[in-house]
Amino acid sequence: MSRVISSDLNSQPSYQLRLNDKFDLMVKAWVGIILTGQWIFALYILVQFTLPLITGQLDESRYAYMIRGYVNGDTINNAILLLHVIPVMLISLSGTFQLFPAIRQHFPRFHRINGRVYLTFGMLGAIGGLYLTWVTGSRLSDLGALGVTVNGLLIPVMVYFAWRYAVQRDFSRHQRFAVHAFILINGVWTFRLLLMGWFMLNQGPQGNSANLDGPADVILSFASYLLPMFIAELIFRARARDTVGSRVTATIAVCIAILITLIGTAAATMMMWGPRIVGY
Ligand code: HEM
Repeated sequence: MSRVISSDLNSQPSYQLRLNDKFDLMVKAWVGIILTGQWIFALYILVQFTLPLITGQLDESRYAYMIRGYVNGDTINNAILLLHVIPVMLISLSGTFQLFPAIRQHFPRFHRINGRVYLTFGMLGAIGGLYLTWVTGSRLSDLGALGVTVNGLLIPVMVYFAWRYAVQRDFSRHQRFAVHAFILINGVWTFRLLLMGWFMLNQGPQGNSANLDGPADVILSFASYLLPMFIAELIFRARARDTVGSRVTATIAVCIAILITLIGTAAATMMMWGPRIVGY
């Protein structure tokens, strides 16, 4: 059941309870859709990177669709790529468990350990990603790499604050920064959703370029984390204020987020991950 009834709504408690219940249900639905999309992504990593590594089938021909990808004989950079990519399987699975209130309440030890693993690998993912982009040159253009670079730089900042507030047992601040860390760590996943969803809606590229530096590419690369961070802030604000206005705004935002996540997950699964999972 939802929380307190604020003073300006005391005249209509049953209406507000309905609104709160529906709102919480919608946030849960959004998290459920994210979880599904993340696990499809994890499955893609499993068949495309982890199994070929285990079975000795790594070969650059398999990764021809990537920007640089795996290069036969380039041991160090291949190791960095695999260290960047394979833990994604783990964090795609583990990250979403952190969001379930029941797990936090009943299994606090699991939440702590899983949280440390998640934030550590998220931060290593960001460092590895920045290295691949700017040291090995795995980028199609400087402008096109700007969005993901800012994403990568923000991850350690949010991870630091999420960790620090957890240690200080300031759980409301911890939750806020942990949610932003989660969104940023998933920024590259969200970018794939937005880009593929954009292609699907427009039946092809529209404002995109082959180097990912078209106006649509640049906007989507920043939107992949700024938009969900903004929506998360609207949800936090709605929960703190508990007014009809803030809840209606957050409800509309979550509806839009659900729609975008559904379209994006379907598009990315159909165009990117599905064919590789099925074709393995
Ligand atoms: C921690 C969050 C991150 C996750 C979960 C993640 C995930 C991935 C995945 C799954 C791939 C394989 C690409 C594919 O097959 O579709 C990949 C590759 C790559 N990522 Fe990340 N990444 C993250 C952060 C970053 C950041 C912050 C950057 C850049 C600043 C970055 C740059 C790259 C590059 C350059 C590649 C290789 C691209 C290629 O050669 O085609 N990643 N990443």
